[in-house]
Amino acid sequence: MISLTTLSADNGNIERCAKALAAGELVAFPTETVYGLGADATNDNAVASIFAAKNRPDFNPLIVHVTDREAAARFVEFNSMADRLAKAFWPGALSLVLPRRADCGLSLLVSAGLDSVAIRVPAHPMAHDLLERADCPIAAPSANRSGEVSPTTAAHVAQSFARLDADPALTILDGGPCRVGLESTVIDVSNETATLLRPGGIPPEAIEHITGPLIRAGSNDQAPKSPGMLSRHYAPRTPLRLNADSAQKGEVLLGFGVAPVSTDFNLSPSGDLAEAAANLFAMLRKLDEQNHAGIAVMPVPDEGLGLAINDRLQRAAT
Ligand code: TXA
Ligand code: MG
Repeated sequence: MISLTTLSADNGNIERCAKALAAGELVAFPTETVYGLGADATNDNAVASIFAAKNRPDFNPLIVHVTDREAAARFVEFNSMADRLAKAFWPGALSLVLPRRADCGLSLLVSAGLDSVAIRVPAHPMAHDLLERADCPIAAPSANRSGEVSPTTAAHVAQSFARLDADPALTILDGGPCRVGLESTVIDVSNETATLLRPGGIPPEAIEHITGPLIRAGSNDQAPKSPGMLSRHYAPRTPLRLNADSAQKGEVLLGFGVAPVSTDFNLSPSGDLAEAAANLFAMLRKLDEQNHAGIAVMPVPDEGLGLAINDRLQRAAT
């Protein structure tokens, strides 16, 4: 069985986690989006143990986390579009896919066979502190087993990995609930155009202020695709029914805005998309534990953060 320890996030414990990373162990840590399952991105064995722990298909590449734009430039080739995006949104919930530098020293597994790397600077003070102390780039997918919804608390991470049969030690750094609650927006800017690979914590409209109209992944043959966008992903066991106006027999209602009946599970009673994003995964997990026949989800507007919320809901309903 995996040896699993949860630590409160004080300086001593962050230092302990930095040492664990340097020793090739796994550390789950808080970011502003979701918890990441981190390993030293330059250590092949450590990166391999991420795939093993998640049971993740090995064609799915990982996001590399760094302290700032200068650190990022040691691993990937920037261009002017990437520079403008980094300036506008880092630290923050934006991952940029850029060409891998030949001398980057990152494990090849991070790119899963591609000649690019997805890289981001997280906006969480504990993630930043951990990166500084560990003094290495940290490869980190969301800290859930493949196919589960992403964790937004340390307890979610512990639940996912508690019954795991694997060698690596896993230390969880508890930084409380994640502020954004949705994974980062992933944009491919490797050839000076901007392609949206995954909607996420930064709304596409905000990005388009910098890039002009985004190319949507899969919209034509030239548009690169993100290997991780399997149509069923982020999935609870309980069936989801979307755009519902009320619950049918056996179902529980997941509200948004003013609900027809009072419900403990409302993504945002005031209809605020940022609040809904922060609540989404935790509420799906809670409702999934309650063994209802189904989860009826009220409609969420398809704009701003609503785009990423609806993307995750559609995947969960597939
Ligand atoms: O907010 C986040 O992005 C979180 C936190 C921990 O940073 N991480 C996360 O990682 O959601 P993950 O592995 O669950 O999702 C990474 C996504 C996948 O869809 C993957 O296919 C895509 O990014 N990706 C990674 N590297 C890529 C690359 N080189 N080219 C295209 N897509 C890439
Ligand atoms: Mg994930």
